[in-house]
Amino acid sequence: MSELAADLTTQDLVDYLAQQERKGLLRFLTCGSVDDGKSTLIGRLLYDTKLLFDDQLATLERDSKKHGTAGEDIDFALLVDGLEAEREQGITIDVAYRFFTTDKRKFIVADTPGHEQYTRNMATGASTADLAILLVDARRGILTQTRRHAFIASLLGIRQIVLAVNKIDLVDFSREVFEKIRDDFTEFAGNFGFRQIVAIPISARYGDNVIARSERTPWYNGPALLDHLETVDVTNETEAKPFRMAVQWVNRPNLDFRGFSGTIASGAVRPGDKIVVAGSGRASTVERIVTANGDLDLAVAGDAVTLTLADEIDISRGDLLVAANDQPEVADQFAAHLLWMSEDHLLPGRPYLVKIGTRTVTAQVTEIKHKIDVNTLDHLAAKELGLNEVAVCNFSLSQPVGFDSYQTNRKTGSFIVIDRMTNATVGAGMIMFGLRRATNIHLQALDVNKEARAVQKGQKPAILWFTGLSGAGKSTIANIVEKRLHADGRHTYMLDGDNVRHGLNRDLGFTEADRVENIRRVAEVAKLMLDAGLIVLVSFISPFRAERRMARELVEDGEFIEVFCDTPLEIAEKRDAKGLYKKARAGQIKNFTGIDSPYEAPEHPEIRLESGTRSPEELAEEVIALLKARGNIA
Ligand code: ADX
Repeated sequence: MSELAADLTTQDLVDYLAQQERKGLLRFLTCGSVDDGKSTLIGRLLYDTKLLFDDQLATLERDSKKHGTAGEDIDFALLVDGLEAEREQGITIDVAYRFFTTDKRKFIVADTPGHEQYTRNMATGASTADLAILLVDARRGILTQTRRHAFIASLLGIRQIVLAVNKIDLVDFSREVFEKIRDDFTEFAGNFGFRQIVAIPISARYGDNVIARSERTPWYNGPALLDHLETVDVTNETEAKPFRMAVQWVNRPNLDFRGFSGTIASGAVRPGDKIVVAGSGRASTVERIVTANGDLDLAVAGDAVTLTLADEIDISRGDLLVAANDQPEVADQFAAHLLWMSEDHLLPGRPYLVKIGTRTVTAQVTEIKHKIDVNTLDHLAAKELGLNEVAVCNFSLSQPVGFDSYQTNRKTGSFIVIDRMTNATVGAGMIMFGLRRATNIHLQALDVNKEARAVQKGQKPAILWFTGLSGAGKSTIANIVEKRLHADGRHTYMLDGDNVRHGLNRDLGFTEADRVENIRRVAEVAKLMLDAGLIVLVSFISPFRAERRMARELVEDGEFIEVFCDTPLEIAEKRDAKGLYKKARAGQIKNFTGIDSPYEAPEHPEIRLESGTRSPEELAEEVIALLKARGNIA
């Protein structure tokens, strides 16, 4: 045998083994409520595949007699529900994973809490699943919840569905009932992009068609559930996809070694392959694939490896390494399905963090295109998103990232949304497509710039951002400051909430979502004015920290001066110059700041004014003094 042939054989063997290892595993998800028999079904699978330990079994038999609802039989639901109760105490875990094996395959079942089938829980379990079992009670047929589960499964890229029509014993093993349910479902889910829908009549309680075909449904020709799970074709598609690996860290133990570590998201890689850093376009060739157990000739999706490259190119944590001949999209705006998972509503315009692969960037939803009623699939207009809601949104990121559409790649097409204040995961997204406008609009380089304009005006431009309750004195103080600056020959402009709301922002009210948009627009306008070389005075309640932070981060360090007009509510309310507090207390104005809408005081303002007790003139002097000290004015 020539050396080349020998190599090929080894290579083939490695490929084959890698393939086998993956083929051997099926990840699936069960959807349905305890009432549908979900726990009983999982318990039955574990029991019949002999996965329970003897002591578990003894406890189960004893508990079944004591609390069970199954007479002399074993109540399998007790097994699973017992585990569930434990889980509920530990609130943080939304999904439990159970493992079992047969001769043919290994299985991982993602089981989401039964009674509250929240979108969020299901999404957590479904994002890695190959197949979903949708449980239906034969007596009740397809319910709203079945439709919802089917929709979310399709949204999350599950292509194999088992419609388990349970409690078939309770409808006398009726073929008509079964076929009606199957046809109803197939009609409904016709355009969900499922590759295969297999309907199986089962009785989880008695085991009909679970492990083996039942004699009580002679009219049914399909496979028993376990049969199907053991043989269904879920050839791991991620391996066939183009190579993608997000760099988790740059491994540089000494000057002689520089490797890029990460888990391969999709595709395969061999030494000699040409790769590119998505976005920058920097290219090189893979030299070695290093692992703890020595070098590899091939690594595939799911493998954690360290790659060394032939060239010294600039690569850092968060970069996406991709096949040179099949590159992903790179953009800073895209449309995506978004599943919202937080009690705090998603507000367009509010800055969040988006984590895609190993890269985290700030991002905002620029538009909610429409919300999707997960029960009826209707498209609804929306200004915000609540817990468990799903929408199609446009996202804008602080920098371009590489990605694929979720349709083509579940790994590189998905992301999570993180709250910047709490660090909690608040959303999960599935990218649909990059937005053209993001790649077609380039910043125009201008010859006359901010510095030139500022020099001409003889001042260092800044944004003086006055924040505080209504009646805190923001506008009064800002007005005096502007008069002083103006008299002094300075170039200024004042953006005042009440005034801007008559023009640019006349379409906005006082809901949280509208306030976020109010501040977003004003921050952008203030930034333009800063660029014009002005000292900009902004006087808005701007009650939320997140948006004030966004305004701050829009401009360069030192350009944003947060002026906190710290007047206690009692005093502001007593002043009540516009009579608005009185109306708010009387319930005539809704969402009034300080009354039934929150004010989040600044934690680190550049200057805090005791505007409840001291005179506006005195406080204006303090602001002028600060501008002098910071060198904004001479
Ligand atoms: S912000 O919260 O979005 O920053 P903004 O400063 O633009 O508010 O507008 C506040 C002004 O609108 C107040 O000074 C008050 O005159 C008026 N107003 C009317 N309704 C409300 C309300 N529900 N809450 C606060 N201010 C209100």
